[in-house]
Amino acid sequence: MYEQQSHYLLNSILDQLKPEIRRRDLRHFYTRLGANFYAIYSLFHTLYGQRDDFQAHLLQLVSVMAKQYVARDPVLKALDSAREQDHHWFLRQEWVGMALYLDGFSGDLKGLADKLPYLQELGVNMVHVMPILECPAGASDGGYAVSDFRNINARAGSLSDLASLAEEMRRRDMLLTLDVVVNHTSDQHEWAQLARQGDLSHQEYYYTFENREIPDLFEETMPEVFPESAPGNFTFDEAMNKWVMTVFHDYQWDLNYTNPAVFIEMLDIILFWANKGADIVRLDAVAFLWKKLGTTSQNEREAHLILQLFKDCCQVTAPGVLFIAEAIVAPVEIIKYFGEDAVIAKECEIAYNATFMALLWDAVATKNARLLNQGISSLPDKLDRATWLTYVRCHDDIGLGFDDADIRAVGYDPRAHRKFLVDYFTGEYDDSPARGRPFGRNGKTGDARISGSLASLVGLETALQRGDDVKVQSCIDQILLLHSLIMAFGGIPLLYYGDELGTLNNESFINDADKAEDSRWIHRPSYDWQRAELRHQRGSVEHRIFEGLRQMIAVRKSIEAMADFNNRELIDVENPHLFVFTRTHPSTPQGSVLIVANFNDRPELFNLRDLRNRGRFELAELRDLVSGASPAQVNGQLLIPAYGFYWLVGA
Ligand code: GLC
Repeated sequence: MYEQQSHYLLNSILDQLKPEIRRRDLRHFYTRLGANFYAIYSLFHTLYGQRDDFQAHLLQLVSVMAKQYVARDPVLKALDSAREQDHHWFLRQEWVGMALYLDGFSGDLKGLADKLPYLQELGVNMVHVMPILECPAGASDGGYAVSDFRNINARAGSLSDLASLAEEMRRRDMLLTLDVVVNHTSDQHEWAQLARQGDLSHQEYYYTFENREIPDLFEETMPEVFPESAPGNFTFDEAMNKWVMTVFHDYQWDLNYTNPAVFIEMLDIILFWANKGADIVRLDAVAFLWKKLGTTSQNEREAHLILQLFKDCCQVTAPGVLFIAEAIVAPVEIIKYFGEDAVIAKECEIAYNATFMALLWDAVATKNARLLNQGISSLPDKLDRATWLTYVRCHDDIGLGFDDADIRAVGYDPRAHRKFLVDYFTGEYDDSPARGRPFGRNGKTGDARISGSLASLVGLETALQRGDDVKVQSCIDQILLLHSLIMAFGGIPLLYYGDELGTLNNESFINDADKAEDSRWIHRPSYDWQRAELRHQRGSVEHRIFEGLRQMIAVRKSIEAMADFNNRELIDVENPHLFVFTRTHPSTPQGSVLIVANFNDRPELFNLRDLRNRGRFELAELRDLVSGASPAQVNGQLLIPAYGFYWLVGA
C-alpha cells in the first residue's frame, strides 16, 4: 500500500543506505520493500514509535534487510523467484518431514549428508535438524540455550559443512529446516556476558530488575514451564546483582522485545540462516515473545505483531523462506500464529498441530475417538496458504492441551480425565502397557505432561519383554494407525527420528547429571545403525514399521487430495471408536478419499449411511489405496480391523 508519510521516510532511508549497498542491483529488493514498507513501518511504529530513536532504528532495520539481500546467494534468489511464482508449493502432498537430533541420528552434519539416502528411502524430503548452534556443553536444554547465534557447535561441524549439506539437499529436492531460538539466549551468550559485566545497553536486551518488586508481580499471573527442574520465572544473577527473567531454565535468559535493538538483532540472525540455505526456519517458543504484567505473558498481541514484522521483513529479503511457529498452546490460540484477521497467512506459514497430536494420544488411551472428534470439530479452519505440521511425537513432552469445554462436551471431568491420561501413559493405570514418564509435574496446579517414545507409549516395550507376539503386532498396528492419520489429515507430516524403526525408551539419560532431571531425554535416541539394517529383514519389528510407513508415504505423495487446501471434512459417525473424514482436492473432486480409522483393540463396523451422501462411496466398490485391497463387509457395513485404517476410494 502507498502511504505518503511512510513512503517519504522510506525514500530518506534509502538515501542514507551505505554506498556499497546502493551500488548493487536491488530491483527485486526495492519492489518487495515498496510493497511491504507500509506494513513494516506501521508494525514497527506500533511497537516502538514512542521512542526518540525510532527513526534511527528504522534505518537500521532497512539496512539489515538490504545487507542480507546483498549477501543472499544467487541460487537462493532464484529459488525465491521460483517459489514466488509457485506460491502454493509447500501445501502440496509431496512433503514429508522428519525431526532429528543430529548427534543421535548421524553424529554430525557430514554424517547427515551421508544419511540422506536413508531418509529418501523412507520418503522423507524435509528435515528439521534440531539446534546445532553453539551452546554450553551441559546447560543447553538440548541446544535450545544458544551462546552464539552465528556459529555451529563444533560437535555438529562447521558452517562449510552446513553449506555442503544444504547444497546436497537442494540437489535431492529436500528441504532444510533450522531453528532460530528467538525467545531467549544462553546465559553464556555474549550479550548476557556483557550485561553481567555491567553494560547497561546489554542489560536492556533482557528483562532485568534491581529487586523482587516487579518479578513478584509477574509471578502472580505467569505459569511455570518447567515447575520441577526450573521453578519460578526469574533468576538472581550475582555478577549483575540483578534479577533476570528466565521463563524456561535459569540459564535461558528471556530476550526483551520491547527493545527494538533486540528485534533487529534477531531479524538479522533469521536472515543469516535463511542465507545459509534454510528453506524453513523454525521459530522456537514464539508464544512467549512478549511479557506483560497481569497476564500469563503468553500469546500476547504484541508477540503476534513481532512475528508479523519478522515475516514482512523476511519476505523482502528472502521471500522463499517459510516460518514454522512453535507455539504449543491452547487450540484457539495456536491458529492465531498463522496471522489473525488476515486472509492469507501473514505470520508463520506453518504451525505445529499440537491439538491434533494430543487428541490422538487421548484416542490411544481411551480406545475411542470421542474427544478426538469433538476437539477437531472445534478447531477453526486455517487461513489460505497456511499449513500444519502434523505429528505424533517430537523431542518434547506430550502436553494435554485440549480444551476443557471439549472434554466436558464428551462427558468427562477435565481434571479426572487428564489424571487418567497421565496415569495411563506412565504405566500407573492397572490396565496400561504404556511405559512413559511424567514430565513437568506441578504440585500447585496438579498438571503433568508425558515423556516417552512412541513405541514405548503404545506398549511395544512391554509386549516385547513379555514375548507376546500378538500384542507386538497390535502395537505396530497402532504406530501405523497414528502415522496414517498424520499423513492424511492435511499438512506436512513430521515424523520423529527413531519412530520409523519402533525405537523404545532410552533410559541412559538417568546417568548423565545434565539430563537426569529432564525425562524428555528418554525419547531422544541415539541410532544403532546395525539395528536399522533390520528394516530389510522381512518380519522384524523394524521391517514391519519401516515398510508400512514407506508405503504409506509413497501413496500419500501420489494423491492430490492429500494436499492441504482446508479440504478436509470430518464425518459425524455413530460408532465412537472411529475417526472418519474425507479429503477432496478442489481440482479433482472425483478423486475424493474417505479415511476411516479404528482406535479400538477389536474390529468395528462403519455404516456408510453416516456419510449422508457426501462423496460417491459405494460399499461394493471401495478400494483401500494403501493396501490396494477391498475391505471386508459385514451386514452391509464396512469392517475396520482392530487398530486398522483405510484410505478409501470408489473403485
Ligand atoms: C521449545 C523447544 C523445547 C525447549 C523450549 C525452550 O519448546 O521445543 O525443547 O525446551 O523451547 O527453549
